Amino acid sequence: MPTESWIDVGASEELCQRPVQEVMLGKVKIALTYRDGQFGAISGVCNHVGGPLGEGTLSGEYVVCPWHYWKFHHRTGLGEPGYEEDRVPTHDVRVENGRVLVRSEPSSKRGRLPHEPHPLARTPNRMAGPLRILGISTTAMNAEHPRYSTSDDLLEHALLAVAKSLECETRLLRIRDLNFRACEGYYSQAARACTWPCSITQMDPGDEMEKVYEGVVHWADVILVATPIRWGAASSLYQKMVERMNCIQNQETIANKHLLRHKVAGFIITGGQDNVQAVAGQMLGFFAEIGCQFPQFPFIAHSRGWSAEDMENNQNYVQRSQSLHDGAAALARRCAEMARVMIEQHLGEQALARGGRKGHELDTQAQLRTSTPLGSATS
Ligand code: FES
Repeated sequence: MPTESWIDVGASEELCQRPVQEVMLGKVKIALTYRDGQFGAISGVCNHVGGPLGEGTLSGEYVVCPWHYWKFHHRTGLGEPGYEEDRVPTHDVRVENGRVLVRSEPSSKRGRLPHEPHPLARTPNRMAGPLRILGISTTAMNAEHPRYSTSDDLLEHALLAVAKSLECETRLLRIRDLNFRACEGYYSQAARACTWPCSITQMDPGDEMEKVYEGVVHWADVILVATPIRWGAASSLYQKMVERMNCIQNQETIANKHLLRHKVAGFIITGGQDNVQAVAGQMLGFFAEIGCQFPQFPFIAHSRGWSAEDMENNQNYVQRSQSLHDGAAALARRCAEMARVMIEQHLGEQALARGGRKGHELDTQAQLRTSTPLGSATS
């Protein structure tokens, strides 16, 4: 007969159909496995950031976490070879009268190996020194046969101008030179599966998106992004970059953590056809959501227009346009001046109200769950 500490989790005939599944012992999640005719039970909560092991897969003798693929032995709970001490609790299991019983008390403890934090995980603290302007070029081109780019030309001119006139430090990141993976959608599994630093960056030391994170989160005061317009949108490299920057925004949502506090963003947008306002709107929206501020008139743009396809002329116009180059330099200066004000006045350091922010539940929802429905009689 089962004692009180053995909990019936279901019929063995049904539970043996799946190699891994989640069962609950009250509020405790268990990853129940079935392999070689035997059940195993380990904690359903991963050691990394709490991923649901019971929703994972079985690879040989190991349960693989569905979030970032850490592995735990399906019976012993030990981490994979080399990481055995990173282990999750195990629970005894037995089958009685066709029912699977799992003991509620764990038979082994959770153990965590100390993991060196990723360098990007350090608290962003602005180091003293001159203003730092990070230019990010997002246009794509053949590395062996580079061509003239209108957005690159204006960006490079803007960086040169602030470096000279305001004695700023400048850096230029060309996204086309970086080898990095596309966002793999960890957020789509669960908001907490999207981590800071990005889980891809933590798993793949060769992933060069780290340079963008380092520049944007830890180094720059101003982020000046240049993009061409491609079919009415910012470039594909821009999209690839900002999808990977979702982890910065997600820290706002899940942890109320502002990685960017004194940063100013500005944009240079050039295109053959129009749609400048929509592209600028998307860029402004994204960089606002990761915590950036903007100067007055935060973007400059140029497009040739719907009725012309003479891109060779368009290049000439931009290349020879003093007003566009002056405008790019002035945009960088406005951004730098705004950043200086923010740093000197300590703007952006105060706590921000959460009401209306992404992923913040309304207080009225909580009230409505616990109080009399609106409109019902109260006498
Ligand atoms: S590997 Fe399990 S939560 Fe990250």
